[in-house]
Amino acid sequence: MNIHVGENDISHVVSADKAHVWHHLTQHAKFDAVDPLIIVEGKGLRVWNQAGREHLDAVSGGVWTVNVGYGRATIADAVRDQLVKMNFFGGTMGSVPAALFSQRLVEKMPGMSRVYYSSSGSEANEKAYKIVRQIAHNTYGGKKHKILYRERDYHGTTITALSSGGQNERRDQYGPYTPGFVEVPHCLEYRSQWGDVDDYGVRAANAIEEIILREGPDTVGGLILEPITAGGGVITPPRGYWERVQEICRKYDVLLIIDEVVCGMGRTGTWFGYQHYGVEPDIVTMAKGVASGYAAISCTVTTEKVFQMFRSDPDDHMSYFRDISTFGGCTAGPAAALENLRILEDERLLENCTAMGEYMLGRLGELKEKHAMIGDVRGKGLFLGAELVADRETKEPLPENLVQAVAGDCLANNAVVIGMTNRSLSGLNNTLCFSPALICTKSDVDEIISAVDGALTRAAAAN
Ligand SMILES: Cc1ncc(COP(=O)(O)O)c(C=O)c1O
Repeated sequence: MNIHVGENDISHVVSADKAHVWHHLTQHAKFDAVDPLIIVEGKGLRVWNQAGREHLDAVSGGVWTVNVGYGRATIADAVRDQLVKMNFFGGTMGSVPAALFSQRLVEKMPGMSRVYYSSSGSEANEKAYKIVRQIAHNTYGGKKHKILYRERDYHGTTITALSSGGQNERRDQYGPYTPGFVEVPHCLEYRSQWGDVDDYGVRAANAIEEIILREGPDTVGGLILEPITAGGGVITPPRGYWERVQEICRKYDVLLIIDEVVCGMGRTGTWFGYQHYGVEPDIVTMAKGVASGYAAISCTVTTEKVFQMFRSDPDDHMSYFRDISTFGGCTAGPAAALENLRILEDERLLENCTAMGEYMLGRLGELKEKHAMIGDVRGKGLFLGAELVADRETKEPLPENLVQAVAGDCLANNAVVIGMTNRSLSGLNNTLCFSPALICTKSDVDEIISAVDGALTRAAAAN
């Protein structure tokens, strides 16, 4: 069915949606009064809903995904050509796009070597956990099996991914959880747990060492971190943090897993977020921007050293990685990812991301000067956040319903779709999120800033 904005009456689509679709992260009672928004068409940074209304999407498909923008015919063509030739075979066999994409990918990741394909960010992280666990069994008699994760980070929606989730409102009511996951403190200096310390970054990293010592280094096999925390509040790591984290991991022989599901593929101006900080990870996971949402693909990328641990003993039939992901064998993902990568390179979108990110950070800084409701502005590249507060002095967070009202105002009055941290941390769902596609221009940024400016002005007047 080919539905175009303005050409068709699509009320039957809206009815079908209302009757049968269970929307993600949504309390459906509101649909008694309003219709769900159906996004019908997209081009560049713009999307159109069922009423034909044009929106500027400042969050790349709501969840930091459509890095190269909407309507990319060359990606669709590449996927189509691949699918008619060879759509699927289980991942025990190879495929042309999977092989070629893995080569192109590791070229962007010095020090990394092997790519394991699956189809969602949660799954990519589950693979990483299984790798750590199997190494623990094969090398340390099963003892070094614990995996540390950080407060406020998110690594996915499955029960085990949630077991490593540092956001209580995503976890509550879905337990009991997988054992062996241990939380370490967050690293958001704006909400320092140790008061006004000089070297907050080192202090926050040292807190990881304290947990390793408490648990026993011989029990801790892995540490998973987002390079810049996304849904937990757009938290850029403080100075000195990553250097110390790396030292700690090396000292205690803890595998460092970096979750690049959001930051990967150029979102922060480098190919991967960790590359800003000179970190050398053992495992890197990625999903969303890998194919910009044109096909489902995720990757768990390891060093050769990690990979070799699974092939060193061919006589032991249990020693290799006994894992499979059916749709990791679908060729649409790597075919789309190859073309996505070409676009990022040929259109120099990383450079644009850095330039536009700096411009937008500056403009958000101007908003902070003007609006007392903005307590902190942070981020890197086109991955930015503004934390809203009820009181700048006490840093009391703005209640979630008022933050929602600001985002709702941008949508209603200016047709600008912005994001916010939601259902993540009790009392701390107060950060507006901005992550337009990497093709965005100064005038797109200005349009977003002007919508937020108006929304904050109206919110201040109303409260
Ligand atoms: C940092 C991070 N990791 C993992 C995931 C899970 O990815 P998926 O929803 O594709 O399973 C997300 C999703 O938002 C994420 O933000």
